[in-house]
Parts: sequence; C-alpha cells; structure tokens
Amino acid sequence: MKTIVVEQLKYRYPLTQTLALNELSFEVEEGEFIGIVGKNLAGKSTLCQALIGLVPHFYHGGYGGRVIVDGLEVGKSQVDEISKKVGIVFQNPFTQVTGSKLTVYEEIAFGLENLGVPRAEMIDRIDHALDLLQMLPFKDRAPFDLSGGQMQRMAIASIIAMRPKIIVLDEPTSQLDPQGSEEVFRAIQSLSREGMTVIMAEHKMEKVAQYADRVLLLHEGRLIDFDRPEKVFSRDDLDQYGIAAPVYTEVCKALDAKIAGEPYYPATLDEACKALVMRRE
Ligand SMILES: Nc1ncnc2c1ncn2[C@@H]1O[C@H](COP(=O)(O)OP(=O)(O)OP(=O)(O)O)[C@@H](O)[C@H]1O
Ligand SMILES: [Mg+2]
Repeated sequence: MKTIVVEQLKYRYPLTQTLALNELSFEVEEGEFIGIVGKNLAGKSTLCQALIGLVPHFYHGGYGGRVIVDGLEVGKSQVDEISKKVGIVFQNPFTQVTGSKLTVYEEIAFGLENLGVPRAEMIDRIDHALDLLQMLPFKDRAPFDLSGGQMQRMAIASIIAMRPKIIVLDEPTSQLDPQGSEEVFRAIQSLSREGMTVIMAEHKMEKVAQYADRVLLLHEGRLIDFDRPEKVFSRDDLDQYGIAAPVYTEVCKALDAKIAGEPYYPATLDEACKALVMRRE
C-alpha cells in the first residue's frame, strides 16, 4: 500500500524567486525506510516540511501539485489533522523539549494529555515508546540531565507515543557525538522494523546506505534519483550533486568489485566484504 504519494509538487518560499521544490513526484510504500540525500540547500528540509504540512500551511508561499499522506491531502488539510498521521523530529533535540516537565516520563505524556488519550492507554503507549527507544532506565530522569543521544531518543519517543504512521526525521543526529548518533540510528531502525514508514534527511551516506531501503537524491529542488542505495551510490555523476558515495562504494569502485550478479558497487560494509572476498577467490 502506498502511504505517501507526491505528485508534481512545486514550492517557492515567500519573497523568493527560485523553486525550493521543483516538480517532485514519487511514492513510498507502507513500512519503507527512505533516506533523503542532497547537498546543502538541495531542498531536503523543505521536503520534510511539505510532508507534515508546515509547507504550505505555516510557511505559505507558492504551492502546486499534491502531497497525500496516509490518504490525506496535505495541501487541503489542517496541520493538526496531518500531525496525527505524520510526526517530525528535528536536528536539535534541545528545541523539541518542552522545558516544563520534571521527568522523561512526563515529557512523553505531555503530547498524549493534549490529545486527550485515556489514562490506561496513555501508560501503555508511553511504556511501549520508552521500551522501543531503550529509554526505560531513564524514565525518571530530568530531560535536561540526558546526553544528546538520550535526549533525541526521548524526542523520538514522544512522537512515537502519538502513534503516527509515518515519521520524518530531518538530520536527527547532526548535533550528536558518534555514540549518540549510533544510539539514535539503532532506535530509528527499530521503528522501521515495527513497520513504521521512516523518512530521514541525512548527510552521513554510510548510514543511509546501511539503513535505507531506498534513497531519494535531491538537487536544486529536483528529484534526480529514487532507488536502492547501491544503485544511487554507484552513479558516476554523484559529485555533480555534491554527494560523496559511502567509503565502501569508493573502495569497491577503485578495486572494481561489484555486487555478485549485479552491475552495481556495494554500499555497505557487509556487501563490500562479500564482494571483495569473491573477487579474491
Ligand atoms: N524559511 C525559508 N525562507 C526562504 N527560503 C528558504 C527557507 N528555508 C529554505 N529556503 C530555501 O529553500 C531551498 C532549500 O533549502 P532547504 O533548507 O530545504 O535545503 P536542505 O537540503 O535542507 O539544506 P541543508 O543540507 O543545509 O539542511 C534553499 O534555496 C533555501 O535557501
Ligand atoms: Mg536541511
């Protein structure tokens, strides 16, 4: 089932001349993990905002085409209606914390209280979200006593507790140290394994290759490619779009080690090991 359908989406911010999104069309199946890549200002964040309806409802500007999330047309729906279907996590976990709650548990409960979720269900949902993000040991901690990685996982847990079908993450680990990033990527992977549709804008290509089912390559607001990581990262013209392929792809390219039976180079450590071992035999 298609959970996201984008048809000829065009968008221009107010008081600007160029299109931030230019004739984008693509579809995402339920449960897919999509990595959005592209150099700075390619339009990744703008596309994320378009999936949750802040484009056009908050930013205004020129808008054309259609975005449909879980059957709801974003351009014609209220943001609070859309937010029941799609949750968003931003770069900086600090900006997502209410600042008024004493514990992680209360922080996660906050959104649910606002939705008027009955108490028993609320407890169920919070426990599940904390468990999924491995945050149960921190449930009584003060939100600002957490590490960056823990705080971002708390922010994700708050979103998950709202039970959206789709989660959009805009460079969720760009402010975190390597350990915090790893924790967050693993957490996102567990959401994906639970069947949630995950859309993640990300600059770390090794991570995109490792986790994403498909990669959406944006350049100057246009969709250049939307395919399996190894296909996108094997393109010869990647540097034209300001993208460096994962280091595994580069090494395999240099040694001309392709994936068995395919015309593409490996994009992950696992695939690279297999291709290199095969080449030696
Ligand atoms: N609030 C805004 N008002 C006007 N123009 C904007 C605004 N936000 C982004 N833009 C423009 O829209 C285009 C796409 O920017 P966007 O922030 O979506 O890129 P990005 O791929 O997320 O970049 P980065 O990798 O730096 O996060 C750019 O030309 C940018 O200047
Ligand atoms: Mg951005």
